[in-house]
Amino acid sequence: MFERLEMAPPDAILGLTEAFRKDPRPEKINLGVGVYKDENNQTPVLQCVKEAERILLEKEDTKNYMSIGGDPAFGKAVETIVFGADLAASGRIRSVHTPGGTGALRVAADFLRRCFGAKTIWMSDPTWANHPAVFEAAGHTTREYPYYDPDTCDIRWNSFLDALKNIPAEDIVLLHGCCHNPSGMDLSENQWREVAQVARDRGWLPLIDFAYQGLADGLEEDAVGVRIMAEAVPEALVCSSFSKNFGLYRERCGALSMIAADADAAARTFSQVEKAIRANYSNPPAHGGLIVTTVLNTPELRALWEQEVKAMRDRINSMRRLFVQTLAAKGVDRDFSFITRQKGMFSFSGLNKQHVQRLREEYAIYIVGSGRINVAGMTPDNMDRLCEAIAAVLKTS
Ligand code: LMR
Repeated sequence: MFERLEMAPPDAILGLTEAFRKDPRPEKINLGVGVYKDENNQTPVLQCVKEAERILLEKEDTKNYMSIGGDPAFGKAVETIVFGADLAASGRIRSVHTPGGTGALRVAADFLRRCFGAKTIWMSDPTWANHPAVFEAAGHTTREYPYYDPDTCDIRWNSFLDALKNIPAEDIVLLHGCCHNPSGMDLSENQWREVAQVARDRGWLPLIDFAYQGLADGLEEDAVGVRIMAEAVPEALVCSSFSKNFGLYRERCGALSMIAADADAAARTFSQVEKAIRANYSNPPAHGGLIVTTVLNTPELRALWEQEVKAMRDRINSMRRLFVQTLAAKGVDRDFSFITRQKGMFSFSGLNKQHVQRLREEYAIYIVGSGRINVAGMTPDNMDRLCEAIAAVLKTS
C-alpha cells in the first residue's frame, strides 16, 4: 500500500517553519507561522507559566488520566475569561479542554458530524489555511463568504452581510473572534451586533475561532464579539486557544465551549462532545490545562499574566507602527498605513506570490504564500533589513 503513495506537499504554514529551520543564512527572518517573538527574537516561557509550573511540580501528585473533557476547574476558568462572569454563571455554557485550538475545532467538527451528519461550514475568504482541512477531514463540506478586500484593505462589509443573510439555517458559519487570521481586519462592536442579529434571524449556527484573545485591544475588549453572539443566539460554539496568549504552543492547550439554550441542553451537548473526544484522543494532555487553571485561579499569577499579555500586545502594535514608518523611510511609495488598522499577529501585506518567493530566495525572509506577515516576528533589529528587502522587491516587480 505505502509503495504507491505520493509525497504530500509541505504544509502552507508549518512547512515554512521547517524550511526556515534548514536555511543556513544567519540573517534569515521568519514572518511565517503565528508565533510571538520578543524584541530579542525569542519565544520565551511566560513568567506566570514558570511560576505555575513551579507550583504544579510541588503539588502534582498523580499522572492519572484526566476526565474526557478535562478538569472541570479548567472549563470554569476558561468560561470566565472568554464569556465574562455573568454569562459564565448562566449555566448555558459548558467547556472541554482540547489539545490546542486546532483540537477544539476538530472536536467541534467531529461532534457536529456525529450528531447532525455532514454539514456545510462557511468560512471567510480568506481564512486560516488549515480551517478547510480540519472540517473536511471530519466529513463536512466547506464554502466561502466574502470578507476581506485586498484592493481597499478593508472588510467587504455589504457583501459579507448579504452572504450571511443567505446562508441556510442548517449550515454552520465559522467566524474569527478577534485578530482575523490572515487579514488582521476585525469586526467593530456594532458590526458584531449586526452579525449576531443575522445569526439569530436566520438560525445558522455560529462557530467562533477565538485563538488570539488579548492580542488585539485587551482581554476584555477582544471578547466583545464572542459575548455579543453568546447573548444573542440560543446556540453557538467557541474554540479558544492558549497557544498564543499563554505562549503554550507546544503544550497543545485549547478549549471548546458549547453555548446552549439552557443548562439541561448544555449538559446533553457536553455528553455528546465527550463521545466525540473519547473516539478521538480519549482525554486531553494535562500539563497545559493545569498551567492555565493555576494561572487564572491564583490572583498574583493572573495579574502577572495580564501584564505579560499586555506587553505582547503593545510590542506587536509598536512593530506595526515602526514597520509602516520604516517602509516609508526606505522609499516605498505604496500606502501601507492599513497595517496599523489591522489587529493581532497578522497582516495581509498585499505582497504577491512573486514578491514572497523573491523575499525567501534572495533575502531569506519567510512569509506565507498568501502575503500574510506575522508582525510579531518583527523586531527593532530586523526591521531595517526587512523593509529594505520589501522596498527592493517592490521596486523591481
Ligand atoms: C498560524 O496561523 O500561523 C498559527 O495558527 C499556527 C498554525 O498552526 O498554523
